[in-house]
Amino acid sequence: MRILVTGGAGFIASAIARAYLDLGHEVTILDDLSHGKRERVPAGARFLHMELLDPELEQVFAESAFDLVNHHAAHVSVRESVLDPEQDARVNVLGSLNIFRLAAAHRVPRVIYAASVAGYGEPQELPVTTEHPLRPMSPYGISKAAAEQYGFFYAQTAGLRFIALRYANVYGPNAEVEGEAGVVTIFVNKLSQGQAPTIFGDGEQTRDFVNVQDVVRANVLALEYQGSECFNISTCTEITVNQLFALMKELSGFPDEALYAPELPGEIRRIYLDNSKAKRLLGWHPTVALREGLAQVVQLAPKPIQSSH
Ligand SMILES: NC(=O)c1ccc[n+]([C@@H]2O[C@H](COP(=O)([O-])OP(=O)(O)OC[C@H]3O[C@@H](n4cnc5c(N)ncnc54)[C@H](O)[C@@H]3O)[C@@H](O)[C@H]2O)c1
Repeated sequence: MRILVTGGAGFIASAIARAYLDLGHEVTILDDLSHGKRERVPAGARFLHMELLDPELEQVFAESAFDLVNHHAAHVSVRESVLDPEQDARVNVLGSLNIFRLAAAHRVPRVIYAASVAGYGEPQELPVTTEHPLRPMSPYGISKAAAEQYGFFYAQTAGLRFIALRYANVYGPNAEVEGEAGVVTIFVNKLSQGQAPTIFGDGEQTRDFVNVQDVVRANVLALEYQGSECFNISTCTEITVNQLFALMKELSGFPDEALYAPELPGEIRRIYLDNSKAKRLLGWHPTVALREGLAQVVQLAPKPIQSSH
Protein backbone atom coordinates (compact mmCIF):
# COMPACT_ATOMS: atom_id res chain seq x y z
CA MET A 1 0.00 0.00 0.00
CA ARG A 2 1.06 3.62 -0.51
CA ILE A 3 0.59 5.16 2.93
CA LEU A 4 0.86 8.76 4.12
CA VAL A 5 1.74 8.97 7.83
CA THR A 6 1.36 12.45 9.29
CA GLY A 7 3.34 13.24 12.45
CA GLY A 8 5.81 10.48 11.57
CA ALA A 9 8.74 12.30 13.20
CA GLY A 10 6.91 12.01 16.53
CA PHE A 11 6.89 9.40 19.30
CA ILE A 12 3.98 7.17 18.22
CA ALA A 13 3.77 7.64 14.44
CA SER A 14 7.51 7.10 13.82
CA ALA A 15 7.08 3.61 15.33
CA ILE A 16 3.97 3.02 13.20
CA ALA A 17 5.80 4.15 10.05
CA ARG A 18 8.64 1.74 10.83
CA ALA A 19 6.18 -1.14 11.23
CA TYR A 20 4.48 -0.27 7.92
CA LEU A 21 7.87 -0.18 6.15
CA ASP A 22 8.79 -3.56 7.66
CA LEU A 23 5.57 -4.97 6.20
CA GLY A 24 6.65 -3.79 2.74
CA HIS A 25 4.40 -0.74 2.42
CA GLU A 26 5.53 2.45 0.68
CA VAL A 27 5.55 5.15 3.35
CA THR A 28 5.52 8.94 3.02
CA ILE A 29 5.92 10.92 6.23
CA LEU A 30 4.60 14.44 6.63
CA ASP A 31 5.84 16.40 9.64
CA ASP A 32 6.67 20.06 10.24
CA LEU A 33 9.20 19.08 12.96
CA SER A 34 7.52 21.53 15.34
CA HIS A 35 7.72 18.86 18.00
CA GLY A 36 9.08 15.79 16.20
CA LYS A 37 12.68 14.98 15.43
CA ARG A 38 14.17 14.42 11.98
CA GLU A 39 16.23 11.47 13.27
CA ARG A 40 13.03 9.66 14.23
CA VAL A 41 11.94 9.43 10.58
CA PRO A 42 12.71 5.82 9.69
CA ALA A 43 15.11 5.03 6.86
CA GLY A 44 13.23 4.06 3.72
CA ALA A 45 10.39 6.56 4.18
CA ARG A 46 9.92 9.57 1.91
CA PHE A 47 9.97 12.67 4.12
CA LEU A 48 7.92 15.80 3.50
CA HIS A 49 8.88 18.66 5.79
CA MET A 50 5.46 20.28 5.58
CA GLU A 51 2.70 21.68 7.71
CA LEU A 52 -0.85 20.24 7.76
CA LEU A 53 -2.27 23.41 6.18
CA ASP A 54 0.41 23.81 3.50
CA PRO A 55 -1.32 24.68 0.18
CA GLU A 56 1.17 22.41 -1.66
CA LEU A 57 -0.44 19.39 -0.02
CA GLU A 58 -3.10 19.48 -2.73
CA GLN A 59 -0.38 18.68 -5.26
CA VAL A 60 1.10 15.95 -3.02
CA PHE A 61 -2.28 14.21 -2.84
CA ALA A 62 -2.89 14.67 -6.58
CA GLU A 63 0.42 13.01 -7.48
CA SER A 64 0.73 10.31 -4.82
CA ALA A 65 -2.41 8.13 -5.15
CA PHE A 66 -2.28 7.15 -1.49
CA ASP A 67 -4.15 3.97 -0.53
CA LEU A 68 -4.36 5.07 3.09
CA VAL A 69 -3.70 8.11 5.26
CA ASN A 70 -2.68 7.56 8.88
CA HIS A 71 -3.15 10.90 10.61
CA HIS A 72 -1.14 11.38 13.82
CA ALA A 73 0.26 14.94 13.48
CA ALA A 74 -1.18 17.08 16.24
CA HIS A 75 -0.50 19.67 18.83
CA VAL A 76 -0.24 17.35 21.86
CA SER A 77 0.20 19.50 24.95
CA VAL A 78 -2.92 19.84 27.12
CA ARG A 79 -1.20 22.58 29.12
CA GLU A 80 -0.35 24.64 26.02
CA SER A 81 -3.86 24.08 24.63
CA VAL A 82 -5.22 25.90 27.68
CA LEU A 83 -2.75 28.79 27.22
CA ASP A 84 -3.29 29.07 23.45
CA PRO A 85 -6.50 27.30 22.39
CA GLU A 86 -6.47 28.98 18.98
CA GLN A 87 -3.13 27.49 17.99
CA ASP A 88 -4.30 24.09 19.27
CA ALA A 89 -7.47 24.34 17.18
CA ARG A 90 -5.57 25.55 14.11
CA VAL A 91 -3.44 22.39 14.08
CA ASN A 92 -5.80 19.79 15.53
CA VAL A 93 -9.10 20.95 14.02
CA LEU A 94 -8.24 22.90 10.84
CA GLY A 95 -5.11 20.85 10.10
CA SER A 96 -6.98 17.55 10.53
CA LEU A 97 -9.93 18.85 8.53
CA ASN A 98 -7.55 19.72 5.68
CA ILE A 99 -6.08 16.19 5.68
CA PHE A 100 -9.53 14.54 5.71
CA ARG A 101 -10.87 16.90 3.04
CA LEU A 102 -7.88 16.18 0.78
CA ALA A 103 -8.22 12.43 1.37
CA ALA A 104 -11.89 12.58 0.39
CA ALA A 105 -11.28 14.83 -2.65
CA HIS A 106 -8.48 12.59 -3.96
CA ARG A 107 -10.41 9.37 -3.35
CA VAL A 108 -8.10 7.92 -0.72
CA PRO A 109 -10.13 4.89 0.35
CA ARG A 110 -9.19 4.84 4.03
CA VAL A 111 -8.05 7.09 6.88
CA ILE A 112 -6.82 6.03 10.32
CA TYR A 113 -6.93 8.80 12.94
CA ALA A 114 -5.17 8.99 16.34
CA ALA A 115 -8.03 10.03 18.62
CA SER A 116 -7.69 10.44 22.37
CA VAL A 117 -8.95 9.49 25.81
CA ALA A 118 -8.98 13.27 26.41
CA GLY A 119 -12.19 13.42 24.37
CA TYR A 120 -14.18 11.69 27.13
CA GLY A 121 -13.57 14.04 30.07
CA GLU A 122 -14.53 12.87 33.58
CA PRO A 123 -16.29 9.52 33.05
CA GLN A 124 -19.87 8.90 34.14
CA GLU A 125 -19.29 5.14 34.09
CA LEU A 126 -16.23 2.91 34.22
CA PRO A 127 -14.75 1.40 32.19
CA VAL A 128 -15.48 3.98 29.49
CA THR A 129 -16.94 2.42 26.33
CA THR A 130 -16.92 4.09 22.91
CA GLU A 131 -20.65 4.84 23.48
CA HIS A 132 -19.79 7.16 26.36
CA PRO A 133 -20.57 10.85 25.65
CA LEU A 134 -17.65 13.06 24.64
CA ARG A 135 -17.36 15.82 27.25
CA PRO A 136 -13.73 16.95 26.99
CA MET A 137 -12.28 19.08 29.78
CA SER A 138 -9.48 20.84 27.84
CA PRO A 139 -9.12 22.62 24.50
CA TYR A 140 -6.87 19.70 23.45
CA GLY A 141 -9.63 17.19 24.24
CA ILE A 142 -12.14 19.37 22.39
CA SER A 143 -9.97 19.67 19.29
CA LYS A 144 -9.16 15.94 19.18
CA ALA A 145 -12.86 15.02 19.50
CA ALA A 146 -13.91 17.64 16.94
CA ALA A 147 -11.46 16.33 14.35
CA GLU A 148 -12.85 12.83 14.85
CA GLN A 149 -16.34 14.11 14.02
CA TYR A 150 -15.04 15.69 10.79
CA GLY A 151 -13.56 12.33 9.86
CA PHE A 152 -16.91 10.61 10.31
CA PHE A 153 -18.55 13.41 8.31
CA TYR A 154 -16.39 12.48 5.30
CA ALA A 155 -17.07 8.79 5.92
CA GLN A 156 -20.80 9.53 5.63
CA THR A 157 -20.68 11.93 2.72
CA ALA A 158 -17.63 11.01 0.62
CA GLY A 159 -17.48 7.26 1.05
CA LEU A 160 -14.05 7.11 2.63
CA ARG A 161 -13.66 4.63 5.45
CA PHE A 162 -12.62 6.29 8.68
CA ILE A 163 -11.14 4.49 11.67
CA ALA A 164 -10.64 6.46 14.89
CA LEU A 165 -8.33 4.80 17.39
CA ARG A 166 -8.98 6.45 20.76
CA TYR A 167 -5.77 5.88 22.66
CA ALA A 168 -5.57 5.75 26.42
CA ASN A 169 -2.28 6.99 27.92
CA VAL A 170 0.46 5.83 25.54
CA TYR A 171 3.86 5.27 27.11
CA GLY A 172 7.16 3.88 25.90
CA PRO A 173 10.85 4.71 25.71
CA ASN A 174 11.61 8.29 24.66
CA ALA A 175 8.00 9.47 24.91
CA GLU A 176 7.57 13.21 25.30
CA VAL A 177 6.78 14.88 28.60
CA GLU A 178 3.79 16.68 27.00
CA GLY A 179 1.97 13.52 25.87
CA GLU A 180 -0.96 11.94 27.72
CA ALA A 181 1.37 9.50 29.47
CA GLY A 182 3.84 12.30 30.21
CA VAL A 183 3.84 11.24 33.87
CA VAL A 184 5.87 8.11 32.95
CA THR A 185 8.49 10.22 31.16
CA ILE A 186 8.58 12.81 33.95
CA PHE A 187 9.05 10.07 36.55
CA VAL A 188 11.77 8.25 34.63
CA ASN A 189 13.65 11.48 33.93
CA LYS A 190 13.67 12.30 37.63
CA LEU A 191 14.49 8.78 38.82
CA SER A 192 17.37 8.41 36.37
CA GLN A 193 18.87 11.58 37.87
CA GLY A 194 18.44 10.22 41.39
CA GLN A 195 15.73 12.77 42.20
CA ALA A 196 12.30 12.24 43.74
CA PRO A 197 9.41 13.09 41.39
CA THR A 198 6.43 15.16 42.54
CA ILE A 199 2.95 13.66 42.60
CA PHE A 200 0.12 16.19 42.38
CA GLY A 201 -2.80 15.47 44.73
CA ASP A 202 -3.00 12.26 46.77
CA GLY A 203 -1.75 10.05 43.92
CA GLU A 204 -4.96 8.00 43.95
CA GLN A 205 -6.07 9.40 40.56
CA THR A 206 -6.10 6.61 37.96
CA ARG A 207 -5.02 6.22 34.34
CA ASP A 208 -4.89 3.46 31.73
CA PHE A 209 -1.33 3.06 30.42
CA VAL A 210 -1.04 1.35 27.04
CA ASN A 211 2.35 0.49 25.57
CA VAL A 212 3.39 2.08 22.28
CA GLN A 213 4.14 -1.36 20.78
CA ASP A 214 0.50 -2.34 21.31
CA VAL A 215 -0.63 0.95 19.76
CA VAL A 216 1.53 0.17 16.72
CA ARG A 217 -0.14 -3.27 16.43
CA ALA A 218 -3.57 -1.62 16.49
CA ASN A 219 -2.48 0.57 13.57
CA VAL A 220 -1.26 -2.49 11.67
CA LEU A 221 -4.52 -4.40 12.26
CA ALA A 222 -6.53 -1.32 11.29
CA LEU A 223 -4.97 -1.49 7.80
CA GLU A 224 -7.21 -4.50 7.12
CA TYR A 225 -10.40 -3.18 8.75
CA GLN A 226 -13.06 -2.58 6.12
CA GLY A 227 -15.58 -0.41 8.00
CA SER A 228 -15.78 3.03 9.62
CA GLU A 229 -15.60 2.79 13.39
CA CYS A 230 -14.08 4.17 16.57
CA PHE A 231 -12.15 1.91 18.95
CA ASN A 232 -10.65 2.34 22.40
CA ILE A 233 -7.01 1.25 22.38
CA SER A 234 -6.31 0.62 26.03
CA THR A 235 -5.49 -2.04 28.61
CA CYS A 236 -8.84 -1.66 30.45
CA THR A 237 -6.78 -1.64 33.67
CA GLU A 238 -6.93 1.16 36.22
CA ILE A 239 -3.56 2.17 37.69
CA THR A 240 -3.14 4.84 40.36
CA VAL A 241 -0.28 7.30 40.06
CA ASN A 242 0.96 5.95 43.41
CA GLN A 243 1.05 2.41 41.97
CA LEU A 244 2.87 3.69 38.90
CA PHE A 245 5.47 5.38 41.08
CA ALA A 246 5.90 2.27 43.27
CA LEU A 247 6.55 0.12 40.20
CA MET A 248 9.02 2.59 38.70
CA LYS A 249 10.76 3.04 42.05
CA GLU A 250 11.22 -0.72 42.34
CA LEU A 251 12.39 -1.16 38.72
CA SER A 252 14.93 1.67 38.96
CA GLY A 253 16.12 0.87 42.51
CA PHE A 254 15.32 4.42 43.65
CA PRO A 255 15.53 4.51 47.46
CA ASP A 256 13.28 7.46 48.40
CA GLU A 257 9.59 8.28 48.39
CA ALA A 258 7.87 10.68 45.98
CA LEU A 259 7.14 14.28 46.93
CA TYR A 260 3.52 15.47 47.06
CA ALA A 261 2.10 18.82 45.94
CA PRO A 262 -1.48 20.18 45.77
CA GLU A 263 -3.78 18.67 43.16
CA LEU A 264 -3.79 20.36 39.74
CA PRO A 265 -7.09 21.98 38.73
CA GLY A 266 -9.15 20.20 36.06
CA GLU A 267 -7.48 16.81 36.47
CA ILE A 268 -9.60 13.72 35.77
CA ARG A 269 -9.97 11.58 38.91
CA ARG A 270 -10.50 8.08 37.52
CA ILE A 271 -10.41 6.75 33.99
CA TYR A 272 -9.82 3.52 32.14
CA LEU A 273 -11.21 2.42 28.80
CA ASP A 274 -13.16 -0.65 27.75
CA ASN A 275 -11.33 -2.24 24.81
CA SER A 276 -13.77 -5.05 23.97
CA LYS A 277 -14.77 -3.55 20.60
CA ALA A 278 -11.13 -3.49 19.43
CA LYS A 279 -10.75 -7.10 20.59
CA ARG A 280 -13.91 -8.18 18.78
CA LEU A 281 -13.64 -6.28 15.50
CA LEU A 282 -9.90 -5.66 15.02
CA GLY A 283 -8.63 -8.85 16.68
CA TRP A 284 -6.43 -6.58 18.82
CA HIS A 285 -5.55 -7.02 22.47
CA PRO A 286 -2.83 -5.49 24.63
CA THR A 287 0.21 -7.77 24.97
CA VAL A 288 2.77 -5.75 26.93
CA ALA A 289 2.30 -5.95 30.72
CA LEU A 290 2.86 -2.63 32.49
CA ARG A 291 5.80 -3.96 34.53
CA GLU A 292 7.51 -5.24 31.37
CA GLY A 293 6.90 -2.00 29.45
CA LEU A 294 8.09 0.18 32.33
CA ALA A 295 11.21 -1.97 32.77
CA GLN A 296 12.09 -1.13 29.17
CA VAL A 297 11.43 2.58 29.74
CA VAL A 298 13.68 2.55 32.82
CA GLN A 299 16.39 0.57 31.03
CA LEU A 300 16.47 2.89 28.03
CA ALA A 301 16.22 6.15 29.98
CA PRO A 302 19.05 8.57 29.24
CA LYS A 303 21.65 8.23 31.98
CA PRO A 304 22.84 11.39 33.78
CA ILE A 305 26.13 12.80 32.50
CA GLN A 306 28.86 11.77 34.94
CA SER A 307 31.18 14.50 36.11
CA SER A 308 34.86 13.76 35.40
CA HIS A 309 35.83 15.30 38.79
N1 LIG B 1 0.92 10.15 23.63
C1 LIG B 1 -0.29 9.82 24.07
O1 LIG B 1 -0.45 9.33 25.19
C2 LIG B 1 -1.50 10.01 23.17
C3 LIG B 1 -2.76 9.64 23.66
C4 LIG B 1 -3.89 9.82 22.85
C5 LIG B 1 -3.74 10.33 21.56
N2 LIG B 1 -2.51 10.68 21.11
C6 LIG B 1 -2.40 11.23 19.76
O2 LIG B 1 -1.40 10.52 19.04
C7 LIG B 1 -0.76 11.40 18.11
C8 LIG B 1 0.75 11.34 18.24
O3 LIG B 1 1.11 11.77 19.56
P1 LIG B 1 2.61 11.66 20.11
O4 LIG B 1 2.51 11.42 21.55
O5 LIG B 1 3.41 10.76 19.25
O6 LIG B 1 3.08 13.18 19.91
P2 LIG B 1 4.36 13.81 19.18
O7 LIG B 1 4.39 15.26 19.51
O8 LIG B 1 5.58 13.00 19.48
O9 LIG B 1 3.97 13.64 17.63
C9 LIG B 1 3.21 14.58 16.93
C10 LIG B 1 3.95 14.96 15.67
O10 LIG B 1 3.15 15.86 14.91
C11 LIG B 1 4.00 16.87 14.35
N3 LIG B 1 3.19 18.06 14.09
C12 LIG B 1 2.62 18.88 15.01
N4 LIG B 1 1.96 19.88 14.40
C13 LIG B 1 2.11 19.68 13.06
C14 LIG B 1 1.66 20.38 11.91
N5 LIG B 1 0.90 21.48 12.02
N6 LIG B 1 2.02 19.90 10.69
C15 LIG B 1 2.77 18.80 10.57
N7 LIG B 1 3.22 18.09 11.63
C16 LIG B 1 2.90 18.53 12.86
C17 LIG B 1 5.06 17.10 15.39
O11 LIG B 1 6.24 17.69 14.87
C18 LIG B 1 5.29 15.69 15.93
O12 LIG B 1 6.33 15.03 15.23
C19 LIG B 1 -1.38 12.78 18.33
O13 LIG B 1 -2.40 12.96 17.39
C20 LIG B 1 -1.95 12.68 19.73
O14 LIG B 1 -3.05 13.56 19.91
C21 LIG B 1 -1.39 10.54 21.88
